[in-house]
Amino acid sequence: MTKTDGTLDLFAITAPGLEPLAAAELRAMGIDGVVEPGGVSWSGPPGQMYEANLRLRTASRVVVRAASFRARTFFELERHARKVPWDRWVNRGGAVRLRVTTKKSKLYHEGAIAERLLDAITRAVGPVAAGALGKDEDEADQLEAADAQLFIVRFVRDECVISADSSGALLHFRGYRQALAKAPLRETLAAAMLLGSRWNPRAPLLDPMCGSGTIVIEGALMARGIAPGLANADRQPRPFAFTSWPDFDSAAWESIVDRARGGIRPAAGLPILGSDRDEGAIQAAAANAARAGVGDDVDLSARPLSAIEPPEGPGWMVSNPPYGIRVGERDPLRNLYSALGRTLRERCPGWTLALLSADRMLEGHTGVPFDDAFRTSNGGIPVRLVVGRVE
Ligand SMILES: C[S@@+](CC[C@H](N)C(=O)[O-])C[C@H]1O[C@@H](n2cnc3c(N)ncnc32)[C@H](O)[C@@H]1O
Repeated sequence: MTKTDGTLDLFAITAPGLEPLAAAELRAMGIDGVVEPGGVSWSGPPGQMYEANLRLRTASRVVVRAASFRARTFFELERHARKVPWDRWVNRGGAVRLRVTTKKSKLYHEGAIAERLLDAITRAVGPVAAGALGKDEDEADQLEAADAQLFIVRFVRDECVISADSSGALLHFRGYRQALAKAPLRETLAAAMLLGSRWNPRAPLLDPMCGSGTIVIEGALMARGIAPGLANADRQPRPFAFTSWPDFDSAAWESIVDRARGGIRPAAGLPILGSDRDEGAIQAAAANAARAGVGDDVDLSARPLSAIEPPEGPGWMVSNPPYGIRVGERDPLRNLYSALGRTLRERCPGWTLALLSADRMLEGHTGVPFDDAFRTSNGGIPVRLVVGRVE
């Protein structure tokens, strides 16, 4: 909620398991947030919201808490909804989306809740276009509808929290990844793997199964100090919802963007290598790296794992190998994981290995002793980042 001094109640939403990493990123920006399930909360001025959107690598969205109240009847909901300052986030004639979820509450009909809220919005700002009332949309819809102001409405035990999304498209849409190989990783999860592996961005980085290159591209962005919101060749900020809010402070935003641009190093200054046995994947990775404006910072080559030529280390190998969830996929994968361990022991002693793993048995075939850095889910599959030292 907005306090009289202009301070906002902010929440950076993350995938489960990534909350502490987002909190550490915020700390590096001088923001002391509180880790909660699903994200990090803090209170701060609009400038911090702008900066969090531009710079957070591991968060999915940044939202502003617009209202919280108790409502057990539609009458109560309507009464509270009328007091929400909707005109802070919705322009006259604009478009809105309402995503409603309910749990253990008297009011449980999500579509009916959304209708009441839409009615309150219309009273406040006049007619608006409304999309996807009450429904949870899939990712393609979200991208399409990113121009409409999203409100996230959660009812838990009759307590309603309404949040205004300040990001627009999810933050993992940095803009650079258009060419996809098989099973691509979200940019936010790739960044989380690098941060969770405690990669030192002055040490070499290698992903020998890089697919469309997400891990190495995120690594190059970090090594050069490029904010994820500027991950394009022109270093122009990607679109954010807050830039269309009625009280958007464009001068403050410009100066935040200028400061972020000013902090960009001209080159990564360390080897960042990506390879994959699939030639098409490497072409996709090269196109993505060029679009992110880090084409010169990553060395990409089509080759099997057995042919990797690691730079002088020790460095970090951070990778998302196939994990074979379907029956029949595991046997060939056992060989892949044991070959990975063997190759590393021969060529990369002293390196750190970090893998996104869905299967303790498979990761065990590497022979590398691992610790779990975090647990999350990738495309609906429970996964862990496991990190170990190659001896
Ligand atoms: C889950 S995908 C990686 C996706 C990648 N992180 C991305 O963001 O696009 C696994 C990759 O491992 C590659 N791969 C599988 N076996 C390999 C091998 N023996 N040598 C090199 N690459 C291999 C596949 O071609 C595939 O691109």
